Amino acid sequence: MLVTGGAGFIGANFVHLVEKQWPDCEVTVIDKLTYAGNRANLAGCRAKFVEGDITDTALVDSLVKDTDVIVHFAAESHNDNSLHDPSPFITTNIMGTFVLLEAARKHSVYLHHVSTDEVFGDLEIGAPTKFTESTAYAPSSPYSASKASSDHLVRAWARSFGLQVTVSNCSNNYGPYQHIEKFIPRQITNILSGRTPKLYGTGEQVRDWIHVEDHNLAVLEILARGRFGETYNIGADQKDINNREVIELICELMDIPGQYELVADRPGHDQRYAMDASKLRKELGWRPRYTDLRAGLIDTIAWYRENTAWWQDAKEKVESTYAAQGQ
Ligand code: NAD
Ligand code: TYD
Repeated sequence: MLVTGGAGFIGANFVHLVEKQWPDCEVTVIDKLTYAGNRANLAGCRAKFVEGDITDTALVDSLVKDTDVIVHFAAESHNDNSLHDPSPFITTNIMGTFVLLEAARKHSVYLHHVSTDEVFGDLEIGAPTKFTESTAYAPSSPYSASKASSDHLVRAWARSFGLQVTVSNCSNNYGPYQHIEKFIPRQITNILSGRTPKLYGTGEQVRDWIHVEDHNLAVLEILARGRFGETYNIGADQKDINNREVIELICELMDIPGQYELVADRPGHDQRYAMDASKLRKELGWRPRYTDLRAGLIDTIAWYRENTAWWQDAKEKVESTYAAQGQ
């Protein structure tokens, strides 16, 4: 198995899980080790590690030649960064996916593409609607537009060239090894380092939070039993919870109730995401293990508390970048 982006948040959790669940599977990771990738995320893993760029055609070809399946996580993944410099999002997310697809086509290798609910745009706050696999694409940011582009490429390679593919679109993840630029780990590490948690705008926006382990267990089900050519939505069916409620929960769990700050909102901020994952549940029998966000946050807070060495060197730089943006 070739895992792209395996030194990032979800990819690294995935490699740990595969090695536990499928011990006979030989894993190779290709990762460019951008600011978001960290070799330490794979500590204790047996996987072979190749530092490299998925847009490097010769390198990708040499790795794909010797693999049975590609699980494609590598991406530029942060919306806020895409608003300040979209360029690497276009290169990695679109061109990188194209390079992988061409190598997969040449060597007839199955590719699973890991994507996001953000390709569907957003939903109205308070509405009962959810995204299904057939919701029309309407991405809002350079990040989500680049992911939407990559999804289209994957499906086109399946239809035009008969490539064996599956696609998953998942909601917002949280859990260990998530970069501290993202909402939940940013607030946890703000509190752990004596800073004030930061809420964009008034925090009315709704995200459909899922623990990273549940996301990756769904990907394993798709790899094992998913149908080629199909797309599966992944989401944990949380009741709608907005960013203000999440930050208040983190503050409460970390004994500083109500102590957070409102900062500048994100331009073009998507209002609400909600996933209908009934196809995955019905067809593949997947169920989330973390059904309670509070319990998942307690575990996640404990992980960041116990692993300060993993995040503290990056903290000052992340916060000064946000401060320069008024966030
Ligand atoms: P991340 O930013 O934590 O990790 C991305 C990894 O990709 C890093 O290790 C980075 O070094 C690597 N990478 C970046 N550019 C590369 C390149 N050109 N060549 C090789 N490696 C490169 O991201 P994440 O949160 O783990 O997300 C992984 C995937 O899951 C992405 O495709 C993302 O769109 C998707 N996704 C994320 C979420 C979420 O909530 N984080 C939700 C749904 C889907
Ligand atoms: P984020 O983790 O960046 O994920 P996404 O943009 O993929 O949803 O942000 C999650 C939500 O939290 C989003 O509505 C923006 C908001 N947010 C804050 O309120 N404060 C913050 O410091 C950050 C990083 C995000």
